Amino acid sequence: MFNRHRRLRNNEAIRSMVRETVLTPNDFIYPIFVVEGENIKKEITSLPNNYHYSIDRLHEVVKEVEESGVRGVILFGIPEHKDEIGSQGYSDNGIIQKAIRKIKELSKDIYVITDVCMCEYTDHGHCGIIHGENVDNDETLNYLGRIALSHVKAGADMVAPSDMMDGRVKTIRELLDKNGYVDIPIMSYSAKYCSAFYGPFREAANSAPQFGDRKTYQMDPGNIREAMVEIESDIMEGADIIMVKPALSYLDVIRWAKDKTNMPIAAYSVSGEYAMVKAGAKAGLIDEKRIALEMLLSMKRAGADMIITYYALEAAKWVRE
Ligand code: PBG
Repeated sequence: MFNRHRRLRNNEAIRSMVRETVLTPNDFIYPIFVVEGENIKKEITSLPNNYHYSIDRLHEVVKEVEESGVRGVILFGIPEHKDEIGSQGYSDNGIIQKAIRKIKELSKDIYVITDVCMCEYTDHGHCGIIHGENVDNDETLNYLGRIALSHVKAGADMVAPSDMMDGRVKTIRELLDKNGYVDIPIMSYSAKYCSAFYGPFREAANSAPQFGDRKTYQMDPGNIREAMVEIESDIMEGADIIMVKPALSYLDVIRWAKDKTNMPIAAYSVSGEYAMVKAGAKAGLIDEKRIALEMLLSMKRAGADMIITYYALEAAKWVRE
């Protein structure tokens, strides 16, 4: 006598009944890159099939998102002008603030999340205010607060700080509350590792550090207990959603966060994960659709409640086929 596990794999009907994890379009959040200028929809070399949009062409991607069934987008801006303090990041007329207002004008349904960070706006490319070679944690907090507040004033539904400064969730929460935005949630990039997988993004956002690296603020890839320390701090400071980033090489961190907290978990499947699959597919080495969906499924199975992915629009179509 032995167990016949294969009975429940006999045909697609029974397989679909016992399937534990299923992807749907509303699992996905789509990153959108916005640039200054006019009449721009330019493919991002490092992220094929993703584009830089100028404000006047955002309606094209808004329509695609609405039709895809994807509910949320996360915005990244590339300003024309960078300076030491990233002043375009909190300007009322900054690229992101304009993009938020435009998307809100175009769509009632799309949920707009914004990445709150300084690296796209500073001329040195670091995620905060620099003193010497050091990113000054506490001085940076004031700027992060201003950036987040300006996004929310422009109409953002949720803010997502990605800078990895200590105390940013508390700072942002207090400032939003003081200004009456008690209902705007914070999705914190809590366990954000210092990863080579961000390479293609930095090309897309023109945000690579001009000296040094991000090792003094982003996490060491060898650590998982430290992820929990970061996550606990963010929960205490008032984060509503916890993020693990990157996703594919950190599925253990996602699972651990899911088991140890009762918070919603977001996974960010980052640019390098996407670019590798695109390149492998282009070389004819892999089946792109199956590989991409299997990767996204593994993130959900590991415990992610939502996944930020450059595949969002394509995957939404595939999972409905
Ligand atoms: C900003 C930020 C980065 C990413 C998201 N927000 C870059 C970085 O930390 O260097 C990376 C996203 C990706 O690789 O897809 N700090």
